[in-house]
Amino acid sequence: MPDIEVMYLTKEFNGIRAVDDLSFTVEEGEIFGMLGPNGAGKTTTIFILCTLLRPTSGMARVIGLDVTEQAMRVRKNIGIVFQDVVIDDRLTAMENLRMQANLYSMPKTTWKPKAEELLELVELHDRKDDPVMTFSGGMKRRLEIARGLLNQPKVLFLDEPTLGLDPQSKRWIWDYLKQLNREKGVTILLTSHYMDEVDELSNRILIMDRGKKVILDTSANLKKMLGKDVLRIKGDPDQEIITKLKALPFVKDVKASSEGIEIGVNIPGGDAAPEIMKILYGNNYSFKSLTIQTPTLEDVFIYHTGKSLRDEGPDTSRTMKRKFGHRRMRRRR
Ligand SMILES: Nc1ncnc2c1ncn2[C@@H]1O[C@H](COP(=O)(O)OP(=O)(O)OP(=O)(O)O)[C@@H](O)[C@H]1O
Ligand SMILES: [Mg+2]
Repeated sequence: MPDIEVMYLTKEFNGIRAVDDLSFTVEEGEIFGMLGPNGAGKTTTIFILCTLLRPTSGMARVIGLDVTEQAMRVRKNIGIVFQDVVIDDRLTAMENLRMQANLYSMPKTTWKPKAEELLELVELHDRKDDPVMTFSGGMKRRLEIARGLLNQPKVLFLDEPTLGLDPQSKRWIWDYLKQLNREKGVTILLTSHYMDEVDELSNRILIMDRGKKVILDTSANLKKMLGKDVLRIKGDPDQEIITKLKALPFVKDVKASSEGIEIGVNIPGGDAAPEIMKILYGNNYSFKSLTIQTPTLEDVFIYHTGKSLRDEGPDTSRTMKRKFGHRRMRRRR
């Protein structure tokens, strides 16, 4: 049984379809990435799965439980790390975790040792009694993750887990999430604007745009679908060499570029390189460098949506105002 099932899910806000006929499943033990530009419907989908929003139509199940009919049981089995900061700045790390434990009505004998353990794991134990307002962005995010894990969820939802963090904090969180998935078998669904994050973490990636599924596959398949590797030679765009390269059976196209020669191949770039080098050396062609470029997730994204994700962060001011008039989990319609 998949851990998450989404079938024909639609959510409308005043006639606008934030989620539009979306279907996908996430298998047990998977890390599943959702990628999409601002307003694609990622947060709305997560909110429905976490029982904080009701779908307009369609169905969603988390570990076999219907998110509308069995909301309380769903909540018991999931953890959420929100796009916007929800920890209370004035409280200490430990006090924040105590508040979270109260939400789940966990007895002290259960939550306290778990909180100690989690603070140790996210490397905040020595700061557990300090007010959160004295924490760095990365530390706050780590505390949010600990908070999301306090009830030992089977499925963890993370909406933009490393938003605005420095590379080192990002790396720490990535490694931690991978370890959590590997060692504790926690199924993870995450959204992100960072291609490298989704690429590094996810077993499969769902690309969304305007509430709809654009494509869903593994990172490797998405890139493969896009086609060819490109080999770039820095040097003179010598016509004779270009003609010889074009004659190679695995070469799709050869272009003279401002820097030299670009060769599109339909076999892996690494396999094509020796044959190409043979021609270059065989003709005493002098060149500065030869590099192999495989398509990136960014290329895949642009290809499918016609837009770039770069320099585009989530619209936090909008979501802050809209979604967090409340601090606690409560059902909204
Ligand atoms: N409570 C709400 N009321 C009205 N419209 C909403 C509400 N929540 C979301 N929307 C709209 O639904 C669409 C999807 O928003 P959502 O926050 O799910 O997108 P997102 O993919 O998470 O975007 P971002 O990358 O900016 O976080 C947007 O057009 C948004 O304005
Ligand atoms: Mg969002």
